[in-house]
Amino acid sequence: MLIWITGLSGSGKTTIGKEVYEKLKERYVNTVFLDGDSFREILGNDLSHTPKDRLENAKRIHRMCKFLISQNINVVCATMSLYQEVHKLNRKEIKNYFEVFIECDIEELIRRDQKGLYSKAIKGEIQNVVGVDLPYDHPALCELVIDNSEQNKLTEKVQEILNLIKEQ
Ligand SMILES: Nc1ncnc2c1ncn2[C@@H]1O[C@H](COP(=O)(O)OP(=O)(O)OP(=O)(O)O)[C@@H](O)[C@H]1O
Ligand SMILES: [Mg+2]
Repeated sequence: MLIWITGLSGSGKTTIGKEVYEKLKERYVNTVFLDGDSFREILGNDLSHTPKDRLENAKRIHRMCKFLISQNINVVCATMSLYQEVHKLNRKEIKNYFEVFIECDIEELIRRDQKGLYSKAIKGEIQNVVGVDLPYDHPALCELVIDNSEQNKLTEKVQEILNLIKEQ
């Protein structure tokens, strides 16, 4: 199965995704956690953050997930990759696909400003920040939306994702 955890930068994808992975791994040894940031690093950081390169990166992540799943490995993937084109590919090519959108108010993301991206983008010091100067596709068909505007109840939020998988 593929659990595709998506949302804007700072929304909580890595935090929630890692916990989901830890829990799943207790039951399914063949489970990997694929995080957007480390994926870019593994491939040598050859892509920028322009829309064109972001889309290419998202397609690479899709192909990597498909490759792992073809070898019976479950993947928990935490990546922004907010492109309908890629979500559609996932749905078409991966049978047990769960798309989870981590929602968080943009005001709260700016307040968190975890990587300093939002403040720099607002000041015009950097470009290509999704949610500020780059638009994004809200997942159209996602299986679950988790409101993570408050940095709390991690266990409950993780459990919501695990319940979704169990139901299927
Ligand atoms: N439910 C939660 N409970 C406690 N802390 C949380 C929760 N969700 C997120 N956080 C905290 O909020 C911050 C942002 O979370 P995280 O790094 O997971 O976001 P992200 O979506 O992976 O961001 P990026 O796209 O930039 O990698 C972190 O400091 C994390 O510890
Ligand atoms: Mg992250």
